[in-house]
Amino acid sequence: MNVPLLDIKAQLAPLREDILKAITEVVDSTRYILGPKVTELEEQIAAYCGVKHAVGVSSGTDALLISLMALDIKLGDVVITTPYSFFATAGVIARLGATPVFVDIDPITCNLDPEQLQKTLDEATAGVITKKAFPLDKVKAIIPVHLYGQCADMQKITALAQTRSIPVVEDAAQAIGVEYPFGDTIKKAGSMGHMGCFSFFPSKNLGCMGDGGMVTTNDESLGDKLRILRVHGGKPKYYHSMVGGNFRLDPMQAAIIMVKYPFLNQWHKARQSNATRYNQLFQEAGLSDNGEGKIKIPKRIYQGQTPDIEYDHIFNQYVIRVKERDRVREFLKKKDIGNEVYYPVPFHLQKCFASLGYTLGDFPEAEKAASRTLALPIYPELTDEQQSYVVDSLKNYLN
Ligand SMILES: Cc1ncc(COP(=O)(O)O)c(C=O)c1O
Repeated sequence: MNVPLLDIKAQLAPLREDILKAITEVVDSTRYILGPKVTELEEQIAAYCGVKHAVGVSSGTDALLISLMALDIKLGDVVITTPYSFFATAGVIARLGATPVFVDIDPITCNLDPEQLQKTLDEATAGVITKKAFPLDKVKAIIPVHLYGQCADMQKITALAQTRSIPVVEDAAQAIGVEYPFGDTIKKAGSMGHMGCFSFFPSKNLGCMGDGGMVTTNDESLGDKLRILRVHGGKPKYYHSMVGGNFRLDPMQAAIIMVKYPFLNQWHKARQSNATRYNQLFQEAGLSDNGEGKIKIPKRIYQGQTPDIEYDHIFNQYVIRVKERDRVREFLKKKDIGNEVYYPVPFHLQKCFASLGYTLGDFPEAEKAASRTLALPIYPELTDEQQSYVVDSLKNYLN
């Protein structure tokens, strides 16, 4: 049986006609740059994320880049982030001439560990001379990533940032609509930091048919600045008080996303129930015993923390941990089961960051994750038979 990692055709089939109609409307409107479709989507996403402003941009990567540009991050500045994410998270820091400083991840969620963050900030405050010594006043932003569709521990992270007046930029590329129990309330990904960055890359829970992204913020002046930076920093047109770029969201993509948007929560739910079913099947197969065993299943750490929390994890990826992961991958490939490693090399060991001076052993949790994590198919249209085939295959191999 073939079980692809993601089945875009299955999602497309029932929406195809509406998508073609939406594209035709844009074609006939002749509004090909920004315009009403982009505005409509921005309003929709702002409401969905519970923020005042949303600015459509060209990709999730550009959402991160323009957010750092809006904070005037430049050569000599420091931005703290996780060593374990998609490359864009760290790449944008380096592209602005700033220095990424990494803080290890929590071994359960793979998200930035607030305790490690505190340690790093305390060292900087005390001026401790370590291998990565940097003064606190150089730290211009912290980027937590909500990896796989579950939020980083934002209450702790924002508290640490706030006491030191450091802006927080959420990398919510994999986490649109995710809820987090913030004190007595529930907050959505992208609404807790100064800015939130989203991606509409086709494999995301809300994916377009090309590239697209969005920046969210509650800060009006940041919202204004993002809109200006998105058009080369010109306002009025051809008068530039700042240097921006072409970071505009394509209205064709906005129109496609608007067709898909009404189904988003339903897709989140389908992914959640697929995850629950995998968990049960792994348990029944004797592979996962309360999260221990040959396979470590992903944990929903905020589930049930407040009665109303529903989308604590949207499973953009269902990521297990398994020993001898690469041999398991070979086996799954033979069984025609799609799988992927997000991500095989942590940032501190990437060749392009060698000049930062990190070495193996600097971030043990990120390194462990890089050698053990494995993403299995979790898309909403995945069938029970396909899931059973994945688990039965793994059972035969591992037992
Ligand atoms: C965590 C994370 N950050 C940033 C990005 C960049 O988004 P995009 O591919 O839309 O540029 C992605 C998506 O690929 C991502 O998963």
